Amino acid sequence: MDKDKIIIALDVNTIKEEQRLLDILSPHVNIFKIGMELFYSCGAKAVELVKKYDREVFLDLKFHDIPNTVKNASKAAAKLGVFMFNVHASGGSDMMKAALEGAEEESEKMGIGKPKILGVTVLTSIESSQDQVLNLARSAKESGIDGVVASAQEAKAIRKKLGEDFLIVTPGIRPKDTEKQDQKRTATPQEALQAGADYIIIGRPVTKAKDPKKVLEAMK
Ligand code: C5P
Repeated sequence: MDKDKIIIALDVNTIKEEQRLLDILSPHVNIFKIGMELFYSCGAKAVELVKKYDREVFLDLKFHDIPNTVKNASKAAAKLGVFMFNVHASGGSDMMKAALEGAEEESEKMGIGKPKILGVTVLTSIESSQDQVLNLARSAKESGIDGVVASAQEAKAIRKKLGEDFLIVTPGIRPKDTEKQDQKRTATPQEALQAGADYIIIGRPVTKAKDPKKVLEAMK
């Protein structure tokens, strides 16, 4: 598997733990996801550390608020120099457009590339109908953002309906025959990529393993 397609979820709550995972995994992975646990524990320092390893950050804070607030939060995300961040697609079209505006304005001001913005369709820990996911994905595309977070089960339909020029990022990735934990709509890396995912997010199966590198290698 192409290592550029893997995103590792750094779901830990100290810089020390983050550093341990980066030491082990940064030679094998280009993008690391910082979510609520790490960001609310350590803040911008967590982002800076990934950049010190010369790796990219996906800031997974799933913005969901009034358009003006999301616009300003998106400016802040762009200012941190992240590669990608996300908003809830269910926050509506005006909110997604505001996220785009904020990210564009700030990155232009800073003279850096605009972060890619994803809309979260329906969390992979929740059962959902394909129609619900497709409607949210369509709304994300019409708002002008770059793609969606969606399960492997829906990736195929999204790719077919919304075309090639739209990112699909898929969490809920599990090696064959392992625990799903709280995720419901899971897939193996191969299944997710075959279904049309551009990137796959892998968390606990790798980060909580005794030997994270070995598990990662076995999944590739
Ligand atoms: O540990 P696990 O592989 O389940 O981690 C999946 C990661 O992807 C978690 O950090 C979770 O917050 C995130 N995520 C998700 N579903 C979404 C968006 C993000 O599971 N729709």
